[in-house]
Amino acid sequence: MGTKYNQVNLTPEEMPKRWYNILPDLPEPLPPPKDPEEGESRIKLLPQILLGECLKQEFSKESWINIPEELIHIYSQAGRPRPLFRAVNLEKKLDTPARLYYKSEFYSPTGSHKVNTALAQAYYAKKEGYQRLATETGAGQWGTALAYGASLAGLECTVYWVRAVHDWKHDRRNLMELFGAEVFASPSDKTEAGKELYQKNPKHPGSLGIAISEGIEDAKKDPNAIYCLGSVLNHVLMHQTIIGLETKLQFEKFDDYPDLMISCLGGGSNFGGFVLPFVGDVLTQGKKIKFMAAQSKASPNLQGEYKYDFADYAEQTPLLKMYTLGHKTDFPPIKGDGLRYHGCSPILSLLRDKGYIDTLAYPVDEKYVFEKTKLFIQTEGYLPAPESAYSVATAIDQALKCKESGEKKVIAFNVSGHGFLDIFGYREVLGLR
Ligand SMILES: Cc1ncc(COP(=O)(O)O)c(C=O)c1O
Repeated sequence: MGTKYNQVNLTPEEMPKRWYNILPDLPEPLPPPKDPEEGESRIKLLPQILLGECLKQEFSKESWINIPEELIHIYSQAGRPRPLFRAVNLEKKLDTPARLYYKSEFYSPTGSHKVNTALAQAYYAKKEGYQRLATETGAGQWGTALAYGASLAGLECTVYWVRAVHDWKHDRRNLMELFGAEVFASPSDKTEAGKELYQKNPKHPGSLGIAISEGIEDAKKDPNAIYCLGSVLNHVLMHQTIIGLETKLQFEKFDDYPDLMISCLGGGSNFGGFVLPFVGDVLTQGKKIKFMAAQSKASPNLQGEYKYDFADYAEQTPLLKMYTLGHKTDFPPIKGDGLRYHGCSPILSLLRDKGYIDTLAYPVDEKYVFEKTKLFIQTEGYLPAPESAYSVATAIDQALKCKESGEKKVIAFNVSGHGFLDIFGYREVLGLR
């Protein structure tokens, strides 16, 4: 096969019609969620917190889960499939023998990969008879994606948004509001979990862990509302495997296959969605691929401890076995704030523990990452979200290593979102006028 063009896309007919569930293929069973020794059972409360269909998917033993026909139409309306590009201009600029490819999740209507699970969760919520969705958001990408999903499904949406980001992304807040969502800076005075922190410090920068607590508490108090989570959990990563499944078909059309796959990692959803179908090839077909997660030194959760910890600040979730820096720890806000989370998906944590995933963390001031990303912007023309910039910088650094060693590696990276609503972040860090 092969193609003379630098882009491969699929037709809507070729879009994968099933998600890949890696659970049965993992090298050992995933440690299950646990209750803490004291207090009420968080596990018994799970059906109150999560959508029925998502809870089923969370523990499914099926390798493949059909994407509902209606949802496939919604995905196609949202512009899926999305192209895989060969970064020829960047390769030339770097003068590297490596072949670089990137997946374009930045083509999403709301700006990122988060729509892949937002549309699914909103679809199931409507089917299950809920009227409102409540959630957290860090970068604001997940909040916007869920607001969009809710509006398509005819549902209301409430978003608790980490204050450190809420306060500089005014345009993104307006986009959520245009979709009809109600948006609160977190910690807020709307929930018990937020109130104490808010009253102590009304300018508290917040964290994803705190915002998750607020979203859960809000939904628990209203029988017509359900909480939706934008990362970390197995079903979220499974919905995101549409990214990697498309990428695999696109690599076939390029007549190529990756040696190294890279993406940024906060809770793990875009990284997992991009790589898990390929991890499946490694585990079941003996393929050899390296996987590398790009993080910030502000919260390099994959360099934490592999142990049971809560997913939220107020300890409303069960304990998950994951790499964590501690659910009560404070981390300095960064412009790529979607990467600032204490824990990592249990699936990816297990794979990291077994040696399948490498990780690296870039300096907190983000100058290095954004400077490197300028090379991508100037050669490929797309503006990555600040989080996606970590993926781009890592790919560039690895391509430069190939230049030194002469290796003709095939490097694939995911550009999880665009940065059109985040230019202020670039301006601050790079000192633009
Ligand atoms: C564009 C983008 N990429 C990546 C992330 C990190 O999240 P995850 O690790 O779940 O993909 C975020 C989080 O907000 C994001 O907005």
